[in-house]
Amino acid sequence: MKTDLPQSFRRLEYRPPNFTFGKVALDIALDPARTIVKSSLEVLPGPEFKPGEPLVLQGQELEFVSLRINGAAHRHFELNPESITIHSLPNEGREAFMVEIISICVPEKNTSLMGLYVSNGNFFTQCEAEGFRKITYFLDRPDVMARYTVTLRARETECPVLLSNGNLIHKEKLPNGWHSAVWEDPFPKPSYLFALVAGKLECIEETITTGSGAKKLLQIWVEPHDLNKTRHAMDSLIASIHWDEKRYGLELDLERFMIVAVGDFNMGAMENKGLNIFNTKYVLAQPETATDADFANIESVVGHEYFHNWTGNRVTCQDWFQLSLKEGLTVFRDQEFSADQMGSESGRAVKRIEDVRTLRQLQFPEDAGPMAHPIRPDEYQEINNFYTVTVYEKGAEVVRMYQTLLGVDGFRKGMDLYFKRHDGQAVTCEDFLAAMADANGRDLTQFKNWYSQAGTPRVKVEEHYNEASKQYVLTLTQSSAKVNQQPFHIPLKMRLLTSNDDQKEQLLELTQEKQSWTFENISEEPVLSINRGFSAPIILNFVQDEADLLTLFSSDDDAFNRWEAGQKLAMQFILDNRLPGAQLIAAYRTLLLDPDLDPAFKELAMTLPAEAYLYEQCASVDPQNIYSARRAFRHAIATELRMEWAALYQQMQTPGDFSPDGVSAGKRSLKNLALSMLLDADVAIWSAMAVNQYQNANNMTDRYVALSGLVVNGSKQAGICLRDFYSRFTDDALVIDKWFALQASRPPIAGVEPTLVDVMRLREHEAFKLNNPNRVRSVIHAFCMGNPASFHQADGSGYAFWADAVLTLDPINPQVAARLARGLDRWRLFAEPYQSKMHAALEKVAASKTLSADVREVISKALAS
Ligand code: BES
Ligand code: ZN
Repeated sequence: MKTDLPQSFRRLEYRPPNFTFGKVALDIALDPARTIVKSSLEVLPGPEFKPGEPLVLQGQELEFVSLRINGAAHRHFELNPESITIHSLPNEGREAFMVEIISICVPEKNTSLMGLYVSNGNFFTQCEAEGFRKITYFLDRPDVMARYTVTLRARETECPVLLSNGNLIHKEKLPNGWHSAVWEDPFPKPSYLFALVAGKLECIEETITTGSGAKKLLQIWVEPHDLNKTRHAMDSLIASIHWDEKRYGLELDLERFMIVAVGDFNMGAMENKGLNIFNTKYVLAQPETATDADFANIESVVGHEYFHNWTGNRVTCQDWFQLSLKEGLTVFRDQEFSADQMGSESGRAVKRIEDVRTLRQLQFPEDAGPMAHPIRPDEYQEINNFYTVTVYEKGAEVVRMYQTLLGVDGFRKGMDLYFKRHDGQAVTCEDFLAAMADANGRDLTQFKNWYSQAGTPRVKVEEHYNEASKQYVLTLTQSSAKVNQQPFHIPLKMRLLTSNDDQKEQLLELTQEKQSWTFENISEEPVLSINRGFSAPIILNFVQDEADLLTLFSSDDDAFNRWEAGQKLAMQFILDNRLPGAQLIAAYRTLLLDPDLDPAFKELAMTLPAEAYLYEQCASVDPQNIYSARRAFRHAIATELRMEWAALYQQMQTPGDFSPDGVSAGKRSLKNLALSMLLDADVAIWSAMAVNQYQNANNMTDRYVALSGLVVNGSKQAGICLRDFYSRFTDDALVIDKWFALQASRPPIAGVEPTLVDVMRLREHEAFKLNNPNRVRSVIHAFCMGNPASFHQADGSGYAFWADAVLTLDPINPQVAARLARGLDRWRLFAEPYQSKMHAALEKVAASKTLSADVREVISKALAS
């Protein structure tokens, strides 16, 4: 019998804390092998206080040293592996008392990268969601907000720089080569926003003046050899600060704002108050080492973490079930920021298309799989598993729907009211909805269903045109993915396209299961353009014939839907295993030659739907069939349009100095798509041009794409260039990650050994490190989750590799292992023999007796599906 059933946390079991903290003083003596933390807590009765109840503080992997209450040693406590329970509180806890706890942790042994850890000799922290309890005993929950003063001590030669949240108020030399710094954060905050950084780092800095006329010091801290790669992050930070003032009237509230880059980091970046900590991948960039995508990602991640200062930090979450309150909202904000930075309507559309691609490729499968959950989950075993594309990307779509329903100004009114009501509080998703509703005098009761119901809703479209009465009737029927769901409130932007162009765009609100709209005086049978701009995150069930799709693809004035029509066409052909016919090729040609269209849009329009999205369209997936059908379709476009590709390759050159702006990046993306198509059409002919681009590129985008094209198409030059790339960039970890990822992402090539053989070799490479999440992701995740055609082999070899990798990584870093464990979520969707082989691999992982809670939850949910 199993006794260690995993613990579940339930949203409806939320209780306010029985105690809370006023002031918190931390004194931390940093030593990699033995860091001593003295914590002084001003404890106050909380909202749910009951006299006589003990104070229970969370703590993990801590060596307890001592406990004092109001200055006196205290003996009435119990220690457990995950907490300390303190009894016999002064006056039964009725009034404020001081708790002082000393404990020890071991940063150099911390490979989970949660809590305090060492990376390349420097100290860093990561506390969200529940890492603070690995630093000291605490009420480690977001609704306990306290004022922190932090004293950091370290040996000055080893740690010349000592940083924490807020303002630096004191620095001092100490005996024996030690020194100290005192930091004070003026804003109350939950423990998950605490941070410290210490070590040999240097910064670039800039002073700016914000709206109120206040001067602010901005710093980007990195290892000294990376200082020359920080300019773009600084520019992005300045742009973010200005944007939030202009668009939302939100000003930076601290005198100083710091970003620190670290090479070992589980996630992308973290919004600690005034001291954001970033994965180096989202800070460091210069043209020679970072691609256009890297530049764009840095801008959006810097924006994202900065925007959390208001949406997340000033107003935070009551509990972790409300995560989408801050993450969905902040993703929406960073998407809007990036779209605005594009500087044109067509640039905005490009950004929107990219975001929807991500949603469909990653979130739709999640919403249809064993880990499906509403954007506000009701239950979890391990909170780290719920930083999902659903909470983030679908959460952002839900926020976007408010804006679509209320208008940009109405949305802004809602935001203003949200801050007016809740500044300094820890709140819920209902509070956000209420602010939106109240500020606009709208009843949004039904809109709540987006927060509680999982699965992607489907909307069936039926149309009827009456030639005689000139009436057009549109009937929409919604159905949910799961049983017993209530209808959603779905905003659908639509327009009827007619030859005389007399119909305007409208917003339909679908609230019933089935609803009809009648349009009068429609002079001819129109072509329907619906869910424009992807106004709702749904699946449209709409059988549109090829002719209508071609019309939309060539002339819809909504750029998103124009792209969408092309995707639908390509998808139908690929799923039917058909090659593009003359009409479709002609449409592609017209698009490529259209002088009024943005290169970036053309590139997106010519990029086929991802395999992961194609899988979701099938009842039973044969991954190799889908791969071959998609490849054959692409090969046909490559071949039939080779004249156009060759011409575009010349026209889209961006001579002169490199600039990462949207227009230049768009040109490069189309040029590089052209190169990749030409290599696909005939690798023998075009390899020389690719090698030339590889050797002479003045930026990483061009160099990397050329190399990738050579590798993916099995060019004879691939080996030499790969070796050249490695030796050019041996000392640049982020570029070496690309070198690993490129090889792990190679699809199968006839006559070349399977990619898995390469991956096994890369895993033994001297530069491969199991402790470094970026390196692990560049090899293992890239192969198992980003390379479907090589991963899904009928002999199950990919799955066996996956199981071994999950089991190897789990004891080192459960978060990284649990992400990888998600790789077989959709096993039920696959045909035989894949399904059975995936099942066997899942069983193999499940059989381990020592799985972390993180991996256990993912695997058991997959098996139960
Ligand atoms: N708050 C998160 C970081 C985080 C995530 C901490 C999970 C702990 C657990 C941060 O704001 C975030 O969302 N980062 C994203 C990048 C962002 C641009 C979507 C990330 O790290 O992937
Ligand atoms: Zn975030």
